Amino acid sequence: MSVLDVIKTRRSIRSFDDESISDEDAEKILDAARLAPSGGNRQRWDFIYVKDPRVLRMIKNCSPGLYGDPVAVVVIGMKMVKAPFGGADYGSIVGVLDIGFAAENILLAAHALGLGGCAIASFNESGIKKVIDAPAAWRPILLVSLGYPSEQPKMPPKKQLSEVVHLDRYGRKWERLEGKT
Ligand SMILES: Cc1cc2nc3c(=O)[nH]c(=O)nc-3n(C[C@H](O)[C@H](O)[C@H](O)COP(=O)(O)O)c2cc1C
Repeated sequence: MSVLDVIKTRRSIRSFDDESISDEDAEKILDAARLAPSGGNRQRWDFIYVKDPRVLRMIKNCSPGLYGDPVAVVVIGMKMVKAPFGGADYGSIVGVLDIGFAAENILLAAHALGLGGCAIASFNESGIKKVIDAPAAWRPILLVSLGYPSEQPKMPPKKQLSEVVHLDRYGRKWERLEGKT
């Protein structure tokens, strides 16, 4: 599959087979995460790859947004930087964006390997920290569930290109995109 095909056919998967993921495939997926772009190439992320069924159960128990029974979960997080004058630190905001890029690489690599997964932001932060024994300054930002899909979801409604693309300035339509789905 071309990269564009992988992007177009990826769907969030919330129902999985029991079959486990080989460590070779897990390594490929995590390597794709590692190679994602990051602001200033700072790569402040950590990826905790969880495949132990006991730990997976505990993660599921504190993640209301995690559906199905994935055979692995990647917990992605980072050490937050303290802002000098309070408020959100710019570096931390960029770090959170970086984690989004890494998560998408995980989802695309998984799909290219015949696996599936879902990004999960709905989880109990302190619960996840306890389960994976994370240091105090480290925050989990996103989970990604992984496994062999036991469903083939249809594409959910997506906005049309013409609804979200503006040409040269805000509010200016690009005619060639009109009416395309
Ligand atoms: C940052 C982020 C957080 C998400 N959190 C959840 C979640 O907690 N639970 C869930 O089932 N799906 C979650 N999703 C998946 C979205 O619901 C899904 O991407 C969206 O419905 C579009 O479907 P698609 O991925 O198949 O294109 C999340 C996606 C993103 C990008």
